Amino acid sequence: MPLKIVRNDITKMECDAIVNAANTSLLGGGGVDGAIHKAAGKALLVECKKLGGCEVGRAKITNAYKLSCKHVIHTVGPKWNGGNCGERELLQSCYKESLNLALNNDCKSVAFPLISSGVYGYPKDKALKVAVDTITEFLTEYDMLVYIVVFDKSAFQISEKLFSDISSFIDDRYVDTHFIYRRNRPIVTDESDESIESQSIDGSKKHKTATPHCTCASAPKAISLEDMVSKIDESFSQMLLRKIDEKGITDAQCYKKANVDRKLFSKIRNDINYRPSKTTAIAFAIALELSLADTKDMLMKAGFALSHSNKFDIIIEYFITHENYNIFEINEALFAFDQSVLG
Ligand code: APR
Repeated sequence: MPLKIVRNDITKMECDAIVNAANTSLLGGGGVDGAIHKAAGKALLVECKKLGGCEVGRAKITNAYKLSCKHVIHTVGPKWNGGNCGERELLQSCYKESLNLALNNDCKSVAFPLISSGVYGYPKDKALKVAVDTITEFLTEYDMLVYIVVFDKSAFQISEKLFSDISSFIDDRYVDTHFIYRRNRPIVTDESDESIESQSIDGSKKHKTATPHCTCASAPKAISLEDMVSKIDESFSQMLLRKIDEKGITDAQCYKKANVDRKLFSKIRNDINYRPSKTTAIAFAIALELSLADTKDMLMKAGFALSHSNKFDIIIEYFITHENYNIFEINEALFAFDQSVLG
């Protein structure tokens, strides 16, 4: 996934460049600025003093010194002033200028904090949206691994209603059965009742299901292994390409919307038996806006299922059931439920 949203301290990120949310003096401050200068050491300030400051919306690059990355890109975000004073355009410019500096310095990976969303007061959810939109647009043109490093959960403002809707959706489906066993065998509450195979924690009983023994002459003929293998189903790759054609979109439109890089897509396209990761398969299902049935079918072809004992899967199922394919809202919800995000 070329764009990843991670929770971390940006000074710990091991990539080619990290971006500093600086001020126009470039002489350090609090928040990210303070953390980066502290981790990089005094030599960073010595270099910054030679830069002559930086305008809002612009960016400048320095060495990283004691940090585990190669460069620090210093950019100055806008102060939030209600949203009608060009803040969005200036914030977009911070990301664009920083990405271009990273590109021109051969960086293959770069990590951003949520610029302006701390001291400068830019609402975190709006700041995240600007970051995701601007970076995604850049990634349609260039190959780079970009991290958005979210320091605190408040960046995702999930609405109370959506949170409670998803919570009840999870409760209805979250399979969390605990069978009470005594030394590897189920408790049979009534000695005579051998049919009870197990008893769940709420006391309900699961009865043994007699294994059907086919005695009638019409029992199906055993199918040879050759027959089974010759009837192999459509592969994940075949279904993906078929769905792209059915949707009338290009390959590039699909993998960019799925936030999957071009190299991975070409591997899938060129290898009929390619098995993607579950997250990648789900990302394509969301990008193609598949129905729940088609999503399950596509996942099965990659060797996966949507499980009801996995909150991540249930949240994905919630959004597909409600035909909401907005990757940003899905990530907000996943983040709110402490699940890893798509992309
Ligand atoms: N790693 C990642 N993110 C961090 C870290 C960290 N170590 N520390 C803070 N953040 C987050 C904050 O939670 C916020 O979401 O970075 C975002 C940006 O916050 P600030 O650092 O306050 O930056 P900004 O809002 O752009 O204000 C810049 O603050 O520190 C001063 O000198 C700086 O004057 C400038 C102003």
